[in-house]
Amino acid sequence: MVVLGIDIGGSAIKAALVQLETGRLTSERLSLPTPRPATPSAISAIFDQILCHFAWEGPVGCGFPAVIQQGIVRTAANIDPAWVGTNIITLLTARAGLPIVVINDADAAGLAEIRFGAGRGQTGTILMVTAGTGLGTALFRDGILFPNTEFGHLQLNGQLAEHFASAAIKERMKLSYREWAKHFDDYLHHLERLLWPDLFIIGGEICKHHEEFFPYLTTNAEVVPAALRNDAGIVGAALAAANNA
Ligand code: BGC
Repeated sequence: MVVLGIDIGGSAIKAALVQLETGRLTSERLSLPTPRPATPSAISAIFDQILCHFAWEGPVGCGFPAVIQQGIVRTAANIDPAWVGTNIITLLTARAGLPIVVINDADAAGLAEIRFGAGRGQTGTILMVTAGTGLGTALFRDGILFPNTEFGHLQLNGQLAEHFASAAIKERMKLSYREWAKHFDDYLHHLERLLWPDLFIIGGEICKHHEEFFPYLTTNAEVVPAALRNDAGIVGAALAAANNA
């Protein structure tokens, strides 16, 4: 079965067709900049563009950078506040007339890593952390997702953790990988003190440079890069659609 996976992030929107049995992309990956401001109408227009690009008429799975409860967007840390209270599933389904599932973007990435990637076949507590514009988290116990954790919004050193340790902060503060790793390591230690995961899986755009900062991470739990790299969000979004099909 093939599903169109869409990963809506704070800085880019990526999409591809995904073969669910293998987790492999069966099309090229389309990447578009996230519109600014990322309002419901601006994102809907990009959504139409993506469906048109793939000439797609099948199921769609979408990862979105917010808490999603029964289709309703509850938070808007890195998207336009007009999203809060919007039923994104109703909005997008009305435009496309296709079956659509929407879940949190980090949860989507985590689902893909648990099924096909770094968490495959692993039991215990696994915490996926995606570092991009924000900090996303996905918590699993014995392969079961506890959805909508927002551990990027914990307080750390007197500020929101994602204002201290996201990849965007590295850019904004012009930190070297080594300097930024100190921030990120503080954050992982904070998570470790609270949740005691057996394994951290690190995803998001920064994970393609993991060799640059992994040597400076000092948690007790093992830390591994997302095996699907930045495609995890697309693949996991597609998996979520299949789970609800
Ligand atoms: C949002 C999360 C999202 C994360 C990564 C945070 O700002 O609150 O819902 O998963 O960014 O995009």
